[in-house]
Amino acid sequence: MSRLLVVSDLDGTLLGDDDALGAFQKWYASRSSLLALAYSSGRSFSSILESMRKFELPAPAAIISEVGTQIHTFPSGEPLSNWPASRFWSADVVKEVLKCLPKATPQLEEFQTRFKVSYFLHNAAERDLNQIHQSLKARSIEAEIIYSSDRDLDILPGGVNKGFAAIHLAEKLGFRANRTIVCGDSGNDASMMNPRCWGVIVANAQRELKSLTGEHLYHARASFAAGVVEGIEHWIGHLSRSAIPADPPWSTPGEDHGKPG
Ligand code: GLC
Ligand code: MG
Repeated sequence: MSRLLVVSDLDGTLLGDDDALGAFQKWYASRSSLLALAYSSGRSFSSILESMRKFELPAPAAIISEVGTQIHTFPSGEPLSNWPASRFWSADVVKEVLKCLPKATPQLEEFQTRFKVSYFLHNAAERDLNQIHQSLKARSIEAEIIYSSDRDLDILPGGVNKGFAAIHLAEKLGFRANRTIVCGDSGNDASMMNPRCWGVIVANAQRELKSLTGEHLYHARASFAAGVVEGIEHWIGHLSRSAIPADPPWSTPGEDHGKPG
């Protein structure tokens, strides 16, 4: 069987249960010849490196940070070229527009970057998010509006999120999207759960992720890193069964409408 790329979130997915993480580390060592690993987090590159040291996480092939706005190969630490590619974007205009929504309070300066403007917005309603989208559009800003855990609001350039970053990385590393397994627990992982990849949603996930369904999604019975192991094993079994074609059944060669690639 050809190698698979695993792109996993950290907080609430791989991290959160130390016993489960210990079991993941042992399991990963036994599977590392079949798998390449990438971490994908809302946190900064340096904060991810710190967690990798603290929790003795296996060395990944790459790190996606800041909710998909940065991709670095590892261990070189080189940022991936041509990422993010954004045209209609200005963090300053986003900040100006968001002043009209006083319920949204900016996160600390250390969590803001040129391509990620982040707020706390508790229990946002769908109409608040739509209103932000419309107001930004009126100022010619194409944005991705990512809402997680009933609290975190990230505004990113259009076409940039963890899902696009995972697919971009898979291409750069030479994996097809349908050889990519993505694992997550909250709203900023929702874009990774697109039908081009195989998804794992851990049992402790937030409701915005638990509510997602599809043939390409596996809802693990176990939580945190144990759910990651369970989900990856599920997809390894699925992909290695001879009756399963190399491409998922809903893929049509020559077409790419956001379906499996
Ligand atoms: C991480 C980031 C924060 C972001 C959140 C959700 O906690 O530090 O800025 O809002 O992920 O994506
Ligand atoms: Mg998470």
